[in-house]
Amino acid sequence: MSLTDVMNIHVEKTTRSKINEVNFNDLPFGKYFSDHMFSAKAVNGEWGEFQITPFGPISIHPSMSALHYGQSIFEGMKAYRAPNGDIMLFRPWENARRLNRSAQRMCMPNLPEEYFMEALTTLLEIDQQWVSGKEGNSLYIRPFMFASEPVLGVRPANEYTFMIFSSPVGNYYNGPIKLMLETRYSRAAKGGTGNAKAAGNYAAALYPAKLGQLKGYNQQLWTDSSEHKYIEESGTMNIFFLINGVLVTPPTSTDTILPGITRDSVIRVARHWGVPVEERLISVEEMDEVIASGACTEMFGAGTAATIAHVELVNINGVDRMLPSIEKREFSNKVARYLSDIRTGREEDIFNWTLRIPV
Ligand SMILES: Cc1ncc(COP(=O)(O)O)c(C=O)c1O
Repeated sequence: MSLTDVMNIHVEKTTRSKINEVNFNDLPFGKYFSDHMFSAKAVNGEWGEFQITPFGPISIHPSMSALHYGQSIFEGMKAYRAPNGDIMLFRPWENARRLNRSAQRMCMPNLPEEYFMEALTTLLEIDQQWVSGKEGNSLYIRPFMFASEPVLGVRPANEYTFMIFSSPVGNYYNGPIKLMLETRYSRAAKGGTGNAKAAGNYAAALYPAKLGQLKGYNQQLWTDSSEHKYIEESGTMNIFFLINGVLVTPPTSTDTILPGITRDSVIRVARHWGVPVEERLISVEEMDEVIASGACTEMFGAGTAATIAHVELVNINGVDRMLPSIEKREFSNKVARYLSDIRTGREEDIFNWTLRIPV
């Protein structure tokens, strides 16, 4: 029996597509949603009730466990249109794996990777016209899982819902970003949930990020929670420095940093190009020194939303430290272009990273 038969996804299509209400020349992040969504339920760890329905509100019970005790995890990925019209996904298997690593940490059920992939590709085939081919546009895809059991009591729930919906988007940041070093608040602590894509991590980051934004900074640059001495990551991105020609990024072994798929891709491409890479601790002191001395020629964030976000300046303990101009940044400009060309099928995929859905 094929997987399609095992899952037997029930499909109910919309009778009224919203696509004509969307201006694909002006797509604020996360404002529009495509026509359909996928959902499935796990009771006592067994997945079933696979369905694709018109996108819309869902009904929840006031005691739904996720609302109270926070068992809620998500993923973020993008679909692009290749020159021949195919829909392209970038390393979707990694999102399926990371969802399950997050699920394990949050005491939630495993979702077989093949279910994730079948749900994703079936949904994309149905909503394929939402993947615009316009330069800079993509279809942002949000898979997520939450405890949907209606029950009070601090314990792992017995019922979970997994869903996928999507949202046509343009560029995440319009230009280089300004970061503020965070030395008071933390998003993650050793032994905590920072390396899981758990909803609560993002809630913990909102208040410090708001304080930074009021001062004109796009994101906080997180440091370790015990001493605020070492750089971790920034916003929803992993962070990279090019120091004397060496690509340096904090290690993800500390369990306080989300192991980004873009991060891993940048590292693999750098190694392929012969650029030395060091995954090691980088202290605030070192960062300050190498920016001031000019040894740090490039600094950028890497993540699905922005892909590569050049860092224009970092506020370190009250002082804005400027980085070299963006046009001079050979590595980050080149890797941004290369990854973008692989994802959109304009560059040969020598790493086997893309999944093509012919349309
Ligand atoms: C906290 C955090 N760090 C890093 C990343 C980058 O991960 P990826 O490259 O898989 O999008 C994300 C985005 O998912 C994130 O939320």
